[in-house]
Amino acid sequence: MKILAIETSCDETAISVVEATENSPSVLSHIVNSQINLHQKYGGVFPSLAKREHGKNLVPALVEALNKANLYFETNSIEIPTEILETLEKNPELQESFKNGLGAIKKPEIDYLAVTEGPGLEPALWAGISFAKALSMLWDIPLIPINHMEGHLASVLLSTENIEFPALALLVSGGHTELVLASSWGKYQIIGQTLDDAVGEAFDKVARLLGFPYPGGPQISRLASKHRKKEKVSAYFKLPRPMLNSDNLSFSFSGLKTAVRYALEKTEITLEIQQKMAREFEDAVVEVLVSKTLKALGSYPAKTLILAGGVSANTYLRKQLKESLPKDLLYIVPEQHLSTDNATMIALAAYTRIRNNDISQREIVANGNLQIDS
Ligand code: KG4
Ligand code: ZN
Repeated sequence: MKILAIETSCDETAISVVEATENSPSVLSHIVNSQINLHQKYGGVFPSLAKREHGKNLVPALVEALNKANLYFETNSIEIPTEILETLEKNPELQESFKNGLGAIKKPEIDYLAVTEGPGLEPALWAGISFAKALSMLWDIPLIPINHMEGHLASVLLSTENIEFPALALLVSGGHTELVLASSWGKYQIIGQTLDDAVGEAFDKVARLLGFPYPGGPQISRLASKHRKKEKVSAYFKLPRPMLNSDNLSFSFSGLKTAVRYALEKTEITLEIQQKMAREFEDAVVEVLVSKTLKALGSYPAKTLILAGGVSANTYLRKQLKESLPKDLLYIVPEQHLSTDNATMIALAAYTRIRNNDISQREIVANGNLQIDS
């Protein structure tokens, strides 16, 4: 069984083909085209620009993904039916490239299509959804809508198939920070989440205060680790650990960013200061994330802990969680290149749905605020 998945919830135009046998999935192609250079001047992702870029990039990404998976064959060019092109009316770039590019591609041996329906930036989501719907009509292949956060959760399926349920997931990305209890694939309950900024957003905002371009999370992490190699403890700045001792599983990161801003106002930003602040900030964030995860495990006994989402690429977080968890708990993180947004994770989530026979056909609508437990 082969699944072709499309992910456009933010600034990555991503398409993957995953093959799933009885026992395990394998990746046939994994294309991630980042638009980050275009968005950097806005200090974040600009939704209508993201939509237009997805419109231009989707067809070339599809050709590349099919080629890499050995599923690309040309055929005598056909005219794309008008009723399909009409569905792409709201994205002229996409409509144009679909019209010119798809007629000469032979229907590939794909069994299912999957697409992210939310959460994310709605104009960007719509680009992927309309493209997926048009492909589904053209090739007559069923289309499965997938929640982006469920995709992050499923990204660990390439690390291991043996997830024991109930599983607790710490999902940390640019838009979300949540503790999710999974009783099985498809059955989720959010037991804790951020009250304001997401943790990735906090990394990016602090990076900006230190003078780094968006998204600065990886840069903060590099500086922090350099400092950690030099100094055993972080003693220069002292930031709060927000909600560390609160009697619930909520997070809050916006005050931390404000504390960083105040601390930096009193000092000149040198490389040394950048390192010291990055270190203290990463220490503070990781301490809170680890502590809340342990607290959640105290109230909701789980057999597996999954760490996923863009911030799960953070080496220090991966390591600190590992060292703090009970040794009999199965701890699974995605391969590092699957931490940040990609379409392989969307295909893997679709794979769990197909295996559970949970793929009823329904109208797909972009939902920027879609919750994993809705
Ligand atoms: O999941 P993701 O790729 O996109 C969203 O769904 O939001 O997450 C992106 C976030 C960004 O905020 C980025 O700065 C952060 O993940 N990130 C990191 C690291 N790599 C990516 N944050 C801290 N350390 C990293 N190594
Ligand atoms: Zn994400």
